[in-house]
Amino acid sequence: MYYITSPIFYVNDVPHIGHFYNMAICNTISIYQKMWGMKVHFMTGTDEHGQKIATSAAQKNMHPQDFVDLVAQSFVNLAQQGNIQYTVFRRTTAQDHKDVVLEMWNKLHQSGAIYLGKYEGWYAVRDEAFYDQHELIDGKAPTGAEVKYIQEECYFFNLSQWQNKLLDFYQQHPDFVKPSSRYNEVISFVSSGLRDLAVSRLNTQWGISVPDSNHVIYVWLDALMSYISGTNHSLQDLSAWPADLHVVGKDILRFHAVYWPAFLMAAELHLPKCILAHGWWLSSGEKMSKSLGNVIDPIKLLQKYEPHYLTYFMLKEMGMGQDGDFSEERMVARIESDLANKIGNFFHRMLSMAYKHSDSKRTTNYSKNQDVDFVISKHYESFHANMRNFAFNKAIDNILDLADWGNKYVDLAKPWELVKTDIALFDQHLMDCLKTMRYIAVMLMPFAPAKANELLQQIKATDVNYTNIDSFEYSENLTIDAPKAVFLKSS
Ligand code: MSP
Repeated sequence: MYYITSPIFYVNDVPHIGHFYNMAICNTISIYQKMWGMKVHFMTGTDEHGQKIATSAAQKNMHPQDFVDLVAQSFVNLAQQGNIQYTVFRRTTAQDHKDVVLEMWNKLHQSGAIYLGKYEGWYAVRDEAFYDQHELIDGKAPTGAEVKYIQEECYFFNLSQWQNKLLDFYQQHPDFVKPSSRYNEVISFVSSGLRDLAVSRLNTQWGISVPDSNHVIYVWLDALMSYISGTNHSLQDLSAWPADLHVVGKDILRFHAVYWPAFLMAAELHLPKCILAHGWWLSSGEKMSKSLGNVIDPIKLLQKYEPHYLTYFMLKEMGMGQDGDFSEERMVARIESDLANKIGNFFHRMLSMAYKHSDSKRTTNYSKNQDVDFVISKHYESFHANMRNFAFNKAIDNILDLADWGNKYVDLAKPWELVKTDIALFDQHLMDCLKTMRYIAVMLMPFAPAKANELLQQIKATDVNYTNIDSFEYSENLTIDAPKAVFLKSS
């Protein structure tokens, strides 16, 4: 079982393209794992408590529960329209989630990791985060969020006690956070010293109540526990825990790579195996925000383009961990230049020739071509190394390079001449190309499954995956059907 999670999304507002990016990364990794024969548990969901959401509900004159029910549905819709194949959609207002949070709270409280004290300092509602004075920049949080000075009784988690254990853990697990540049930031943050963390709020009603008190549990402790409640198990049965991978944006890495492991250590639970931190999508070079009016709506894009085009573009365009600018025009250009002109063209030109000639029946009697095998395996191995390293843009380059190579192979072999003069040799070249196409299609699968399946159907090689592709053989002579263009221009 491979357990992967997306962050759970705040429902203070409807989804934007950045949220879809999180889901698309998880979906891609899930398909990749399934292609290796793994069973995948993919959790996504919504983070529905906290002051930020209570305020948004109040602005709409709605009861928070009605408000979160409404907005959570827009994230479910996004996942469905985006063909995101999650296993569980976790909502933090669900009773079975609240039960798991309370179990965790009681465990931490009983062990002495949580104690009552007094918080004095800054809080940013937008980030739902506490900040130290020295972190503020021009009176604001480092993220630009407004901060408020608060003085209130609260429960603390003894984070400071976990500093050395965290540093030991990081040292023993050099791949815990990816990419490594982000890991260095985490390590230097922890090395500089940790203060105990406030884990309850007094002046907020909208959350899970701390047992026997008028506090509510800090929304981040509540939210992080969705990764455990999202296994559909309680703390008594952790057979599906730990997660193999948490996919998160760089802005929430600290919560995942510092606070979350410390909570888990304190509760004597296993830590997740890896945290992947991605960058941010900007709109015309700026952060997307309602006030700037530059928010890109993924639902509108999905009404216009099939989901795999968005996924393909986003994973190709932006290197893991970097920021990038979203542009619909560039997305369309990329679909044409990469998918249609490179991959589509390679399939179409060769298959249409095979279809047109000799009743379209091809012999599959084929002597292996070591040169072709060498080229394919070089690209295929590099593809897997990149996928394992979450370097999706490089993995896509491996696919495109192989398609380029295929197109050059066709240019040099001149099958349009052979088909008239030497049909046996034509069939040998066709088999070389079919093999190359098979590998291209399975490599494309995690990014564009519907399209990859169409390609595989055209070459009569359905049901191939990473475990069986190397031994694939056509069982009988092959009939090539009239190929259809798989990648429609901009749709
Ligand atoms: N609710 C918390 C996560 C709790 S996980 C236990 C949260 N929610 S969020 O809705 O604000 O953000 C969800 C994810 O979207 C985060 O990973 C965040 O980095 C990501 N993004 C928000 N804006 C983004 C972009 N513009 N681009 C890419 N991802 C962005 O944080």
